[in-house]
Amino acid sequence: MILKNINIVLTGATSGIGIETAKLLIPEGANIIGIGSSATSCIKASKQLRALNGNITFLVCDLSDQDAVHNVSKKIKEQFHQIHCLINNAGVIYLKYQKDKIGVEKTFSVNYLGHYLLTRLLLPNIMTAPESIIVNVSSVAYKRGFLDLKKLKSTNVTGMDAYARSKLAQILFTQTLSKKLNQSKVSVNCLHPGLIGTNLLGKNGLLGKLLPAFHKIVGRSAKHGAANVLHNIKLIGNSMTSGQYYSNSKHEKLLPHALDHKTANGLWDLSSKLCNLPTKID
Ligand SMILES: NC(=O)c1ccc[n+]([C@@H]2O[C@H](COP(=O)([O-])OP(=O)(O)OC[C@H]3O[C@@H](n4cnc5c(N)ncnc54)[C@H](OP(=O)(O)O)[C@@H]3O)[C@@H](O)[C@H]2O)c1
Repeated sequence: MILKNINIVLTGATSGIGIETAKLLIPEGANIIGIGSSATSCIKASKQLRALNGNITFLVCDLSDQDAVHNVSKKIKEQFHQIHCLINNAGVIYLKYQKDKIGVEKTFSVNYLGHYLLTRLLLPNIMTAPESIIVNVSSVAYKRGFLDLKKLKSTNVTGMDAYARSKLAQILFTQTLSKKLNQSKVSVNCLHPGLIGTNLLGKNGLLGKLLPAFHKIVGRSAKHGAANVLHNIKLIGNSMTSGQYYSNSKHEKLLPHALDHKTANGLWDLSSKLCNLPTKID
């Protein structure tokens, strides 16, 4: 896939792996539509990227708010008839239990459900492009993820348990969507970018000031994570493989619980219901 002049929607473009990915995509000549959760973070990121003189537009959207996801999708679709690449990269780990407006735990809501809705809403424009790719930035943390669909709203999972569950959901979603789009020119894949020192734990009050510092000691640089993302985008874009998981920069087999079709189908149906969308893709 040639990145010059293609339209790329990148969530979580204001920090960490996302902003470093934008820094790599800009010199390739892509048009980037970057999403951040607040006007403040979008303005700050926009200033950081200004010197690169690239084509990047920032839009504000809190992915845990379905109205905001509808609004941002509308804005994107009005401006960009074709979307060639969607990178669902935004992520968070909330250590304390909190819910979104529809009663879904917020880590799951931002990392998975908001991206599910965004992807479904942008799909008509993604399918309009001659060839397009969807990349879900998941995590190796999926390995310890556990998803009980019957108790999705009633189980008070927090921290790494909530994070692992959301990352498992992204992987199951990748496979279902890939199957549903197997007759199209859209490829859907997911990846683990590596252990990277970022602000992923930064939205946790006082602890949120300390934990990212520790994360930055044990993790590699956000530049390294972004290089992995770009490598995979190019790899996927050239081969147009679909439904796969890449860890760092290599294809990796998924553990059996992440290949469970019944859970994957159930998750699709439940997500459609929670987002007020039909289960069927037109
Ligand atoms: N760091 C790692 O070791 C690691 C490992 C495996 C996978 N990952 C994945 O990599 C991705 C990027 O994370 P990162 O490590 O680069 O963390 P980061 O530096 O904290 O960046 C997270 C991004 O997500 C956005 N975000 C958070 N909450 C949001 C919300 N409610 N609505 C919209 N956007 C929101 C943030 O935007 P604002 O700043 O505007 O809030 C920020 O741009 C995540 O999906 C994460 O799970 C990271």
